[in-house]
Amino acid sequence: MTARMLDGTAIAAAIRESLRPEVEAFTRRAGRPPGLGIVLVGHNPASEIYVSGKQKAGTEAGLWVDVHRLPPTASVQDVLALVERLNRSDRHDGILVQDPLPDAMGSDAARRVVDAIDPRKDVDGFHPISVGRLVQNRPTLVPCTPSGVIELLDHAKVAISGAHAVVIGRSDIVGKPMALLMLHRHATVTICHSRTRNLGAVAATADILVAAIGRPAFVTQDLVKPGATVVDVGINRLTSRDDVERLFGRASPRLAAFERRGSLVVGDVHPAVAEVAGALTPVPGGVGPMTIAMLLRNTLKAARGEVTSNE
Ligand code: GUN
Repeated sequence: MTARMLDGTAIAAAIRESLRPEVEAFTRRAGRPPGLGIVLVGHNPASEIYVSGKQKAGTEAGLWVDVHRLPPTASVQDVLALVERLNRSDRHDGILVQDPLPDAMGSDAARRVVDAIDPRKDVDGFHPISVGRLVQNRPTLVPCTPSGVIELLDHAKVAISGAHAVVIGRSDIVGKPMALLMLHRHATVTICHSRTRNLGAVAATADILVAAIGRPAFVTQDLVKPGATVVDVGINRLTSRDDVERLFGRASPRLAAFERRGSLVVGDVHPAVAEVAGALTPVPGGVGPMTIAMLLRNTLKAARGEVTSNE
């Protein structure tokens, strides 16, 4: 069997296109475009790429997107002060503080910063009020990557109701909200993580397998039930030739791609899974573009005031 590839790039482009007239209508009505403020602290190379992708996609869809940069030496107080300013801004409907924050800020920095964002502007869906609403299946701003996965599955007409969905990974950003969204769509949900016994055997019972662990090529053929839908949330950059050869073999075309570029972005799912799965999301070009499309949708939602403080 060769898996059907779920083309996130095309689906995300269609979603962005469908948002455009809605953004125009808001802009006419409000006399200004929906606004997104992105906070970027330090110079993390991956974050730079993600943030410029978000800004470009937002601007193309007609949003006002500005990036507020702080140096790597910034303190938590500096970030909190900036968030406060964006909370009060009439121009910014959404606020996103790009993760990770510099290690020097301390382990609780991300939490303190997220807690400071006005929940009505929480387009990442990470604020505890957003999370609580999600748990109770109330209207809210939902984290972009897991909502992008649901959107991708819906577009591909993958049945979620009644399916056994196995989510590998229990992060606040992807694993937990992913499991909740699957549950709200009436899947039977299992969450696996680093302490799960017989993880491979559990994964192999999944009708829908979501890999969100951040370990390159972790999901191999033996973890996948024939015909299952496999969603690869991983974005891992390999910089060692040995790692590429060990994971994909000497004959893999990925080795040539690595030689050309000096690094290689791979998912959490081994490419040979395509021979077993019924459907598979590629990396790149699967979940990544969907995440950005959902961010734009959340910003429009926030601008329209669809999520109020006391719903
Ligand atoms: N870093 C990696 N993914 C994300 C995301 O979805 N939101 C934010 N704020 N930072 C990230």
